[in-house]
Amino acid sequence: MAIGDSVIRKDAYEKVTGKSLYAADIKIHGMLYGGVVRSPYSASKIIKIDKNKALKIPGVVCVLTYEDIPGKNVVPLIKMDLPVLADKEARFAGEAVALVAATTIDALEQGIMNVEVSYKEIEPVIVPEEALKPKSRIVNPHFENNIISEYRIIKGKEIEDAFSECDYIVEDRYETPHQEHSYLEPQGMVAIPHPDGTMEVQGSMQCPFYVLDAVASVLSLPRAKVRIIQACVGGAFGGKEDVPSIVAAHTALLAYHTQKPMQIIYSRQEDMESTSKRHPGIIKYKSGIKKDGTLHAVKVEYILNGGAYATLSPVVMWRGNVHSVGPYRCPNVYVHTRAVCTNTVPNGAFRGFGTPQVIFAIESQMDRLAFKAGLSPLEIRLKNGLKIGDETATGHKLTESVGFIDTLKAASLEMDYEKKFEGYKSQNGRIRKGIGIGALIYGVGLGAGGKHLEKAGAFIQIHKDGSVQVAVGHTEMGQGFLTVVAQITAEALGVDYDRVHILPIDTSRVPDSGPTVASRATFISGKAILDAAAAMKERIFTQAAKLLNTKPENIEAKNGEIYLKSDNTQKISYDKVISECFANKIHLAASGWSEMSNTSYNMENGQGDAYFCYTFATNIAEVSVDMETGEVEVLKIASAYDLKPVNYQLTEGQIEGGVTQGLGYALMEGHLLKNGVIQNKDFSTYLIPTSKDVPKIKPIIIPNEYSMGPFGIKGFGETPLMAVAPAIVNAIYNATGKRITILPVTPEKILGHFTISNFQFLPR
Ligand code: MOS
Repeated sequence: MAIGDSVIRKDAYEKVTGKSLYAADIKIHGMLYGGVVRSPYSASKIIKIDKNKALKIPGVVCVLTYEDIPGKNVVPLIKMDLPVLADKEARFAGEAVALVAATTIDALEQGIMNVEVSYKEIEPVIVPEEALKPKSRIVNPHFENNIISEYRIIKGKEIEDAFSECDYIVEDRYETPHQEHSYLEPQGMVAIPHPDGTMEVQGSMQCPFYVLDAVASVLSLPRAKVRIIQACVGGAFGGKEDVPSIVAAHTALLAYHTQKPMQIIYSRQEDMESTSKRHPGIIKYKSGIKKDGTLHAVKVEYILNGGAYATLSPVVMWRGNVHSVGPYRCPNVYVHTRAVCTNTVPNGAFRGFGTPQVIFAIESQMDRLAFKAGLSPLEIRLKNGLKIGDETATGHKLTESVGFIDTLKAASLEMDYEKKFEGYKSQNGRIRKGIGIGALIYGVGLGAGGKHLEKAGAFIQIHKDGSVQVAVGHTEMGQGFLTVVAQITAEALGVDYDRVHILPIDTSRVPDSGPTVASRATFISGKAILDAAAAMKERIFTQAAKLLNTKPENIEAKNGEIYLKSDNTQKISYDKVISECFANKIHLAASGWSEMSNTSYNMENGQGDAYFCYTFATNIAEVSVDMETGEVEVLKIASAYDLKPVNYQLTEGQIEGGVTQGLGYALMEGHLLKNGVIQNKDFSTYLIPTSKDVPKIKPIIIPNEYSMGPFGIKGFGETPLMAVAPAIVNAIYNATGKRITILPVTPEKILGHFTISNFQFLPR
């Protein structure tokens, strides 16, 4: 019926028939087109902005600069440092300097080209390790020493003492590139000024309540006069967490000044040059084991390139910090993480949120330690893997829902890991095969890094025909959220899935539910739905009990029928009961709320419960490598998770998509920067996997229940991407004996032709 079933997606029909309305499909009478004038330089002073030439172009309606902002010139994110429009200085190539509105797209393009901005270039600070040097120029006055945020984990002994007790130590430096979200639909927004002074905004977004904050702030309007509605979204992956606040602020500002409906739709190139990406990472990782393979000490120096403004870097860095040891027991830990400010595009949220970078290092190290101790990579993980009763690196004692070992066993069984790993060790010839493991732990929800936002609202109304309308505060972006919300509602009320309809996501319908991020939406909205459904079910059952001549506690409901627990032939239809409720003036609407209690976590030493629960996963990849061309073909990936799914098909879909994104991260993706300016701004130069690159993917789901989750579920949406790259890199080592420490693993690196000067993915 509901939970666990692979029901058809609520949005399937409209999407496959092309009827869905994305931001670019929205057309409103009298609507104008808006666009952005962007700085071409990594760092510059803005001397003068001359609007005159642009305003003379027929069709150009207005040009706006920071001086035209009625509210605050700041995008309301964690550090309040990103201007809506640059004033005296532009700090990255692609930063918004002015806005233009026009009656046609052609006039808009002409208008943008003819806004005359005089810049005085200054020497950009591009490389994070340069930015950290005491003599470096300060990129953004908000950040002393160019450090956006800094965290530590300090656990156990003085770390060098712990290393002196180790029998084997491995130490190396790992680097990871930018990763582009590559959502199919670029950023886009429509703003509609209403005669009563309210501003309505519809568009592509993950976090409508962030957009609400931004629009209210830039226009200086009370939030009650701002309404944000999510349009159909063509993918997000974290890339529509904070960026839509900027797009919406720009669109609303133009709509406010012209008092016309306004639309801004980014081109792909504009999107790639100006919007957030996965942070490039530098990870210096040292870990040590005892002779028998027991992990004893871990020391990590982890740097993320935040770009020119903080946006979400502090929380991305915090999550990376917490996850720096992976799913392993370790008594002695010292982690130091810093997000660094440079004159490059601000980086932000991307599926995994600061963890795929460090997971690449963790999982490479585990293999290398295993080889030193004469263990297989599977053995060292089985030996050190977290179990119930163990402590995480932050000292969180795990009491339930810890299925890591199950995922290791299931994935290795599926791949026949040990046998293949041994067999592939000594190969000759041009084509060589290899097999590798990548594993992870992942905190569900915002945890201590975003504790004030760990809440959600829901609203349910049953109409007199028995159909059910639901509003929630989180968003559908392709992951299947509307569908699982409907499944949870159906199960909670005991009605059939088909009678549940989910309303468009709208900030005026439910209270601020925080962002749709951190693999939290199904979990936390699901709990809010249970809260609303419980209130309503009590009223419905009171009526049903009367009709069945019994007490409410003696009945239950499923699939649209209400029956006696003791004898399910004694039943009555839901519709009949709903008619009875209406006849008796029963209130058939309810709002629900859920919140998680605060976690205990000390930001100084990184000790305490960082999250309320964790999801675990293991990937095992099998590859073949062409030793003459350096090409890698991924043959198969088994990807195992310890969670109970709401919908098997959607869960498997998340796994297939995430694994493919992880494959891109491992082998092909990354931005090339020249003097801080992104050079590859389209899909002919920025390569992502195509259907031809997708290996055989075997999703494995171990239905491990979590007691606090709605119907025992916990979140997992980001995890499929996160530990794929190390599985592939470890498999390449098994095939070739080459240990690659810098992603992506291009053929040049496998052949050893890679040099810093001719092929560089990291910003330099
Ligand atoms: Mo997500 S990367 O937590 O938007």
